[in-house]
Amino acid sequence: MARIRSTTPSAWSLLKEQYPWPLEQPEVKPLHWSLDYGGRELITNLIARRKVRVVLEIGVYLGGSARQWLSVSPDVLVVAVDLWPQVTLSGFEVRDPIGRRYWDQLSAPDGLYRTFLSSMWDERQRIVPVRSRSTEVLPELHALGLRPDLVYLDAGKTGVEIPLLEQLFPDALISGDDWCWHDGRQFPIRMPVKESCRRRGYHLKQVHNTWLIDDQPWTRQERLIRLRCLPREILHRAGAIRQQIRGVNSIGISIRPKRVT
Ligand SMILES: C[S@@+](CC[C@H](N)C(=O)[O-])C[C@H]1O[C@@H](n2cnc3c(N)ncnc32)[C@H](O)[C@@H]1O
Repeated sequence: MARIRSTTPSAWSLLKEQYPWPLEQPEVKPLHWSLDYGGRELITNLIARRKVRVVLEIGVYLGGSARQWLSVSPDVLVVAVDLWPQVTLSGFEVRDPIGRRYWDQLSAPDGLYRTFLSSMWDERQRIVPVRSRSTEVLPELHALGLRPDLVYLDAGKTGVEIPLLEQLFPDALISGDDWCWHDGRQFPIRMPVKESCRRRGYHLKQVHNTWLIDDQPWTRQERLIRLRCLPREILHRAGAIRQQIRGVNSIGISIRPKRVT
């Protein structure tokens, strides 16, 4: 694609130098766990079709989605931004069967970050781990020469990063997760995504949980992907409506104020 202008090799080297991997693989079990709630074929299809080379992913967790992008082609590189915070009892891991199975490892000091590093160890030449808060580190990544072809946003669900991403990386396509994630009342990612589409005059593409703000209209292949994912998306949407009626958010946490007895 003519509009894809990627990060230069020297900028990539600078990023790797600034955010190095440890010298040795952390001694924790690799865990290949992707929080994939549907529609990511829209992104892997885009990466392959438009020869995307550098992906900036915000909200990487254990690297499940990053691995999906890397598996499209050996030419793909990922800049992986996450806080990798300390896992605590208030995290979602306690409520998730996989989280509970690996609880001891994940909740150990720095368990999430160490598990990420160990899980992605084999891909360390193609991924730069940036342990920082998204909005704080984006200007620094830009100053180091990062010019992603594609951004995948799967962090705080509010889309607060979108205007900054537009400003810093005007040539990047912006995509992300959480289209069906709701806080009990609304779907917080939708408004900032729609506003970005309007500002830029771009097309909104959405498949299940995945969204993409694209400068090109839907392709036939993308429509087929949407159609294939539709049954699961409809079930998911129906579940979201039931949760909203019960007054809980997407992870089952009540949003109703507790009654004092
Ligand atoms: C849902 S998980 C990402 C899942 C991952 N993309 C996957 O598919 O396997 C969300 C991640 O976003 C990170 N995160 C949330 N807010 C962030 C912020 N402001 N800056 C950086 N990372 C953030 C969290 O630490 C968490 O690891």
